[in-house]
Amino acid sequence: MTVSSSSIVVDGKTVDLPVKVGTIGPAGLDIGKLYAQSGTFTYDPGFTSTASCESKITYIDGDEGVLLYRGYPIEQLAEHGDFLETCYLLLYGELPTKVQKADFDYRVTRHTMVHEQMARFFHGFRRDAHPMAIMVASVGALSAFYHDSTDISDPTQRMVASMRMVAKMPTLAAMAYKYTVGQPFVYPKNDLDYTSNFLRMCFAVPCEEYKINPVLSRALDKIFTLHADHEQNASTSTVRLAGSSGANPFACVAAGIACLWGPAHGGANEAALKMLAEIGSVERIPQFIARAKDKNDPFRLMGFGHRVYKNYDPRAKIMQKTCHEVLREIGIKDDPLLDIAIELERIALSDPYFIEKKLYPNVDFYSGITLKALGFPVSMFTVLFAVARTVGWIAQWKEMIEDPGQRIGRPRQLYIGADRRDYVPVSER
Ligand code: SDX
Repeated sequence: MTVSSSSIVVDGKTVDLPVKVGTIGPAGLDIGKLYAQSGTFTYDPGFTSTASCESKITYIDGDEGVLLYRGYPIEQLAEHGDFLETCYLLLYGELPTKVQKADFDYRVTRHTMVHEQMARFFHGFRRDAHPMAIMVASVGALSAFYHDSTDISDPTQRMVASMRMVAKMPTLAAMAYKYTVGQPFVYPKNDLDYTSNFLRMCFAVPCEEYKINPVLSRALDKIFTLHADHEQNASTSTVRLAGSSGANPFACVAAGIACLWGPAHGGANEAALKMLAEIGSVERIPQFIARAKDKNDPFRLMGFGHRVYKNYDPRAKIMQKTCHEVLREIGIKDDPLLDIAIELERIALSDPYFIEKKLYPNVDFYSGITLKALGFPVSMFTVLFAVARTVGWIAQWKEMIEDPGQRIGRPRQLYIGADRRDYVPVSER
């Protein structure tokens, strides 16, 4: 794909750098041979200017606020498709035919149960364990149960592991929730669609039948689609790096869950809702805006800003619309947190600080209000993000493993520590 070349002069030596151009978006200077030819590294600790791989899965245009899954705009997929169709698209690269969709749904549905021994595994946790801690542990533990899909060199085992991950994450997430609220686990029901099955596993109790609300189930399904993949974000890069050593997919996804937990990443939906609650009233917004702008205050507006989007996150717009749909269906006329969120967004988007730094609401800004209205506790918000993002992690992991040029990821460093020095006996220190 290399189509032209550039060059760089290092210590008077000219090094040619091929330029790789993708389908759309920025080109990339191929610096793979730079160190060998110049003895110099590039330096980019936050990877703000670094493309770590080639990928055909997701494209983001941060300036225009565009998100495409395999070329299809997120707005169209969220509006017209469902989450499992998006899973098929991300994994196979094309939208499924009717027959392919029915077969895929059938295969996922028949992998939703987990080994019964997993239930005993859960009982090792304290009841007040954070559900994300349980998810990191239980997803990693899947590699202790499913030995027949951990050979990453076998395409069949790779696909079985992929189906198992997509299918079992809702079951494990529901078990994590049930365990922390002290209710019995609810088994998946194969005659329900993916998201209705998940809602029932979370909120059904043995003493009465759980009634699926199709409006709420559809809303959560749309939220899953919005969170399914997002190019080389921190957790996806973690999964790719873990997978580059040959680790099994369950262990790689567990690493992705651990990374997603951080408040700067997937943990922001939990942090954003806690921030709205801390603000407490529209009148208190200005003081929090001032804190967000104060260089000496570590406080940031959670759910605002993005490494790539320097325009409105297209997912945030759909999230806001879905939030209103859910609140309307549940009959919540006036959610004080939503009022604060809308006013906070209005003030921030007219403030020169946020305008100059191109800080807009991201996918996490409205999701917390919606998930709370659906009945989930704040501690489950990032778990839901992980359920949705699992298909993206797995699709990116598969793409990396199936790349014939794939090598272990091993970055270098700029060493700024002590120069060589000799040992000093303790008697002389
Ligand atoms: C997700 O990467 C992905 O794709 C992630 C994600 C996905 O789908 O996988 O989209 C999901 O993680 C969304 C982001 C959720 N995180 C938050 O909402 C946490 C709050 N946001 C920030 O922490 C921050 O915006 C990041 C982490 C999202 C982005 O950080 P960057 O790109 O490293 O930007 P930065 O921290 O260098 O900020 C640039 C400037 C700084 O000011 P200066 O030092 O230049 O003066 O903007 C300021 C920051 O202080 N800034 C904020 C701010 N975010 C950035 N100021 C106030 N409030 C904020 N939220």
